[in-house]
Amino acid sequence: MCEIFNEAVQDRLETFDSDPRSVDSQRLMNAAADHDPKHPILVADVRNWIAGWAALATYDNRISLDDIGEVFIYVRRSFRSYGVGRQLMRALQESAAMLGYRKLIGRILVANHDGLLLCRATGWREVGRHTAHARLQDGLHDVMLVEYLIPPVSAPQT
Ligand SMILES: CC(C)(COP(=O)(O)OP(=O)(O)OC[C@H]1O[C@@H](n2cnc3c(N)ncnc32)[C@H](O)[C@@H]1OP(=O)(O)O)[C@@H](O)C(=O)NCCC(=O)NCCS
Repeated sequence: MCEIFNEAVQDRLETFDSDPRSVDSQRLMNAAADHDPKHPILVADVRNWIAGWAALATYDNRISLDDIGEVFIYVRRSFRSYGVGRQLMRALQESAAMLGYRKLIGRILVANHDGLLLCRATGWREVGRHTAHARLQDGLHDVMLVEYLIPPVSAPQT
């Protein structure tokens, strides 16, 4: 999982980090998710090989916003463009609905075309562009704020 995240950093597709993540810090994140059912990490497994992962993280702790989640999603470079991202995103959207979320938020570098395409393909809306927003090693980058409104879970039919 750490390798996959670091590929996104190397490819300059990660919105907030220009430094690679250590295995220990990834382990801490995974352990935290194990003990926090509201904030799962989903892993795409292709024949016992981790092809990608997606995290549903806290967006804002204020009570009026605590049913909004922020999504982070990463697919291994060699597995990109084969539909893994779409499946992971769908699974995360379904999990979020089951967990009672009403909305998901994402923040994607404007230069990250594949990230924006994935959002368009999975029902997200582009809210607007933050100008000169993310400060990475090579300067300030514009960031697209995207949102996905979770449809209400329909009651089981009797
Ligand atoms: C963004 C990312 C998760 C997409 O995952 P993926 O497995 O490559 O995406 P998919 O193959 O499922 O494609 C999903 C949709 O996005 C579009 N898409 C994604 N990559 C594309 C590409 N290289 N060329 C054309 N379309 C592409 C397609 O429209 C596709 O829709 P379709 O199924 O109707 O064809 C992946 O590129 C990635 O890990 N990038 C680095 C990390 C990142 O940018 N994360 C998002 C910001 S946190």
